[in-house]
Order: sequence, then structure tokens, then C-alpha cells
Amino acid sequence: MAGLRLVRYYGSRGLRIVRGRMQYVWDDRGRRYIDAHTGNGAAFLGHANPAIAGRVSEALGELAACSLSFDCPHREEAVRALSRVAPPHMGAVAFANSGAEAVEAALKMAWAHTGRRLVAAFRGSFHGRTLGALSVTWNPRYRRGFPVVEAVFLPYNSDPAEAHSAITKLGPRLAAVIVEPVQGEGGVVPGEREFLRAVGEAARESGALLVVDEIQAGFGRTGRVWAHEHYGLEPDIVTAGKALGGGLPVSAVLARGELAGALEGGRHGSTHAGNPAAMAAVAAAVDVLLSDDVPARAREAGSRLASRLRGLLEGRRAVRGVRGLGLMLGVDLRANPAPTLRCMQERGVLASKAGVSVVRLLPPYMLSPGDVEEVASVVAECAPG
Ligand SMILES: Cc1ncc(COP(=O)(O)O)c(C=O)c1O
Repeated sequence: MAGLRLVRYYGSRGLRIVRGRMQYVWDDRGRRYIDAHTGNGAAFLGHANPAIAGRVSEALGELAACSLSFDCPHREEAVRALSRVAPPHMGAVAFANSGAEAVEAALKMAWAHTGRRLVAAFRGSFHGRTLGALSVTWNPRYRRGFPVVEAVFLPYNSDPAEAHSAITKLGPRLAAVIVEPVQGEGGVVPGEREFLRAVGEAARESGALLVVDEIQAGFGRTGRVWAHEHYGLEPDIVTAGKALGGGLPVSAVLARGELAGALEGGRHGSTHAGNPAAMAAVAAAVDVLLSDDVPARAREAGSRLASRLRGLLEGRRAVRGVRGLGLMLGVDLRANPAPTLRCMQERGVLASKAGVSVVRLLPPYMLSPGDVEEVASVVAECAPG
């Protein structure tokens, strides 16, 4: 039998990972790695975190599915848990299965609520690969050859007055402005405070919804529960995913209360959205976030790692700099990061590429001081001189 060929969306890194425990994973030869890749940020709360794995297995033993036409305690628990950490002005939550689907639902919410069509996004943005999310994703290589909806791309971190006028000019056609508080895939670029605030104000003045995409930056990673808190933004919609499910594929759209009705009555749907195991994972993930003070730990470990990296890489001509917030860090090289990533993998540290020149580090929050030392020295050993 020939068997099926796996469709690999990404190039292979030539590593077979067989198990993980918190910040570490092991390959099929028993070799241990510090995981600063975390499945593109999904395992921020660690691999096989017992506080999450236990609750998920319990849920799987209780109920396989629960359509949104019915109620179940798992979903009630997840909604209660998210209410504890949602931005205080939010009044509604919708669930989905992946980041892209959360973005899709957020855009549909904006289109349905405003009756407008146009969406403004930013250069360097990444919001996912389904057609709505893809339409507001910057990289032309990802969009080429696929039908997309109406979107315009504005410069990220531009002069605040310019950003404000570019958005208000789009005026009455604009349904939403979607922005990452820290661009991840685009190269780990934290937004500048005045830029993001101008974007928020311009969206409000234009009657468009401000959608803040926290799928990568949110849920504690940057040192606050939500990255937009660093900037004092008041989004109309926040999308969350990755870390939110402690490893399970689940995402959420948090929205102002008045938007709750926009997708009700059959205007949206999803078979698995809000399924019991995913809901148990969300409830457990929120418990971990609060009981372990995850944002504070990410802030401390992140600042230790950033300063070690800066110290070790200082003066290297091939290194443009180290940037990021909390445990969302990028080492910007004046070169393709692929050889550095390969060398790091050989020395027991997994990380990913962002933009064209950035080594992206997205480790779990429990990274110890010893791990910080190891990651920093491996990066220093592998980065070009
Ligand atoms: C900011 C942001 N939005 C959306 C997505 C899409 O999420 P998913 O891959 O789960 O569809 C990602 C994934 O990297 C992301 O970083």
C-alpha cells in the first residue's frame, strides 16, 4: 500500500518530537530541547501541563460534543473563567477552533454590525490563512493566487498623525481596522504607543471597529494578560488563540456587549466551536494564568532573556538588535535566520523564523534562569558574527 502523502504546509525541520513536559520536548532519540518554538506559540503554558491535561482528559471522558444549541457545564465554566480575565469593557465572547477562524468571525462581526465592507490592516501583519484572515495578511506571497476581500494596507508604526489621517480618509467605507499590538510573524515588532493610540482614535472617529489581534501576543506572553494593556487601548474586538487552549485548538473573540447579536440567529456557525474538551482546556488555562501569575513570570523571564541576549550579541555587525515584549522576543539578523535556527536546533534549542531576518523566541512562561542562560548562549554561539 502506497499510503497517503502528508501535505506539509511548512518545510520540514527534520526532527521527530515524541513528547514534551512543560518547557522541554524530546526527540525520538531521547534528546532534550528547550522549546522556544512551542508550535508557533501554542504551548506557552507548557507541554503536558498537568493542570490542563487532567481537566481535558476528564472532559473527554464526560462528553464528546455539545452544539451551541445546547448548554453544557464545560462551556459555562470557560465563559466564567474568561470573564475573569477579559478586558473590563468587553461583554461578549464567541468561540472558534483556530486563530484564523477567530479573525474570520471578528471580521464578519464588523461587517454585519457596520454594514460596511472595507477593512484596514497594516504592512507586516499576519492574521491567518482562511480567506477573510488572508485578505488582511500583508505578505503578498501568502495572498498570491487566492481570492481576497476588500482591504487596504497602511504602514505599521508610522507617524501617528499620518496613521490617523490615512484611516479617517477611508471614512464611511471602513468596517474595521485590524492590528496586532506586537507584530509576530512580521518580525516581532512591538507597536509604538502613540501610533497604536492614533489608530484606535481614528477607527472610533470613522465609525469603524477596532479589532486587536492578540492571537500570538495575548494571554500573558508579553507580561500583561493582553498586550494592548501596555498601550491603554480600548478595542471593540479582541481575538485570542494559541496559548488560550493550553495546546488544544481553540480560539475566542471577545467583543463589546452590543456586538453580541451581530452573528446570532444563524449568521455564523461552527460544529466544534465551544466543544467540551476545548472549553475545559480554556477554563484550566485561565486558572493557570491567574494562579501562576503567568504575566509577571513572562515579564521577568523575558527581561532576563532579552538582557542576556543583548549582552552577548552586543557589537556584532551581523545582528541588528534584540526586540520584543515579555516572552515574545526577536533577534534581528542582517541575514537569513535559517542557518542560525538549524545550528540552535543541533544544540538543543528550538525557535522559529519571523519576517525575513528574525529568529523568533516564543518560550513557555516557566522558562527557568538556567534555561535563559542556555537559550542565550546557544543563540550567541549560532548567530553570525
Ligand atoms: C497574530 C496572529 N493572528 C492570527 C493567526 C492565525 O492563527 P492560526 O494559525 O491558529 O489560524 C496567527 C498565527 O500565527 C497570528 O500570529
